[in-house]
Amino acid sequence: MFDDVAPKYDVVNDVLSMGQTRRWRRVVVDAVGVTTGQRVLDLAAGTGTSSEPYADAGINVIACDFSLGMLKVGKRRRPDIDFIAGDATRLPFADDTFDASTISFGLRNVNEPKKALAEMLRVTKPGGRLVIAEFSQPVVPLWRTMYTEYLMRALPAIAVKVSSNPDAYVYLAESIRAWPDQDHLAAWLQEAGWESVTYRNLSGGIVAVHRAQKPLSGAAADPAAGAHTGPVAKLRRNIARPGR
Ligand SMILES: C[S@@+](CC[C@H](N)C(=O)[O-])C[C@H]1O[C@@H](n2cnc3c(N)ncnc32)[C@H](O)[C@@H]1O
Repeated sequence: MFDDVAPKYDVVNDVLSMGQTRRWRRVVVDAVGVTTGQRVLDLAAGTGTSSEPYADAGINVIACDFSLGMLKVGKRRRPDIDFIAGDATRLPFADDTFDASTISFGLRNVNEPKKALAEMLRVTKPGGRLVIAEFSQPVVPLWRTMYTEYLMRALPAIAVKVSSNPDAYVYLAESIRAWPDQDHLAAWLQEAGWESVTYRNLSGGIVAVHRAQKPLSGAAADPAAGAHTGPVAKLRRNIARPGR
C-alpha cells in the first residue's frame, strides 16, 4: 500500500491535514531534543519527511522503513540522508545504538506495534529517549464528533480527488478510529519497558506525542510478549491493494 502512495505521499498529507503536519513535526523534533554528534533512529520514516529536520540540523539520522517505494522516493529527494530498509519488529541494528528513537505516524501501521516498541527499546541507549507521534482521540466530545465526520466522510472524498490510491485513505480513516487512545498507548510503552512515560495532545488530541526514556539499567521486555494482532492489523489485511 505504501509503495503505491509514495510519489504523492507528502503533498496529499499536507492537503488532508490542512497544513497541520508541519506544526506537529516541529513539536516532535523539539521533544526528541538531540544535539550534534548524537544518533537518531527515525523509524517508519517513509519518504524521510520526518527525518529531514535532523539532517538539516547536522544530526546523524537513520531513516528506516520497510517500503522500498517510500525509501526510493526519499533517497531521490534527500541523497544525504541514510535510508535503511528494515522491519520495525526486527530492526537491523545492534543493542544500544541510538541516543533517541522516534516514529511519526508509523506505529499504527506496524502489524505488531508492541514488538516495535520492544525493538526500539533494544536499539536505544540506556537513558535514551523515545518520541512517538500518532493520530489519537480528540478529548472534547464536540471536537471528536466533528473530527470523526471529517475522517469518515470528507477525507475519503478529498482523497479521491488528490490521491492515486484513495483506498489507502479509507484505510487511514478506519485505522485511526481503531487505534488505542492516549492512555492506552502510554500503558503499552510501560509494558514494553519504557519509563517516565508522558504525552502531549496536539490539535485537541487529533495527534498525541508520547515521550519516554529507556531505563539506565535493567533488561528489555520480551519482544515476543503481547504481540498485537488487533483491529488495525486486521483492517490492513483486508484492504484492497490496487496494482498488486
Ligand atoms: C504514514 S507513513 C509515515 C512516514 C513518515 N514517518 C512521516 O512522518 O511522514 C508510515 C510508514 O510506516 C511504514 N511501516 C509500516 N509498517 C512497518 C514496519 N513493520 N517496519 C517498517 N516500516 C513500516 C510504511 O512503509 C510507511 O512508510
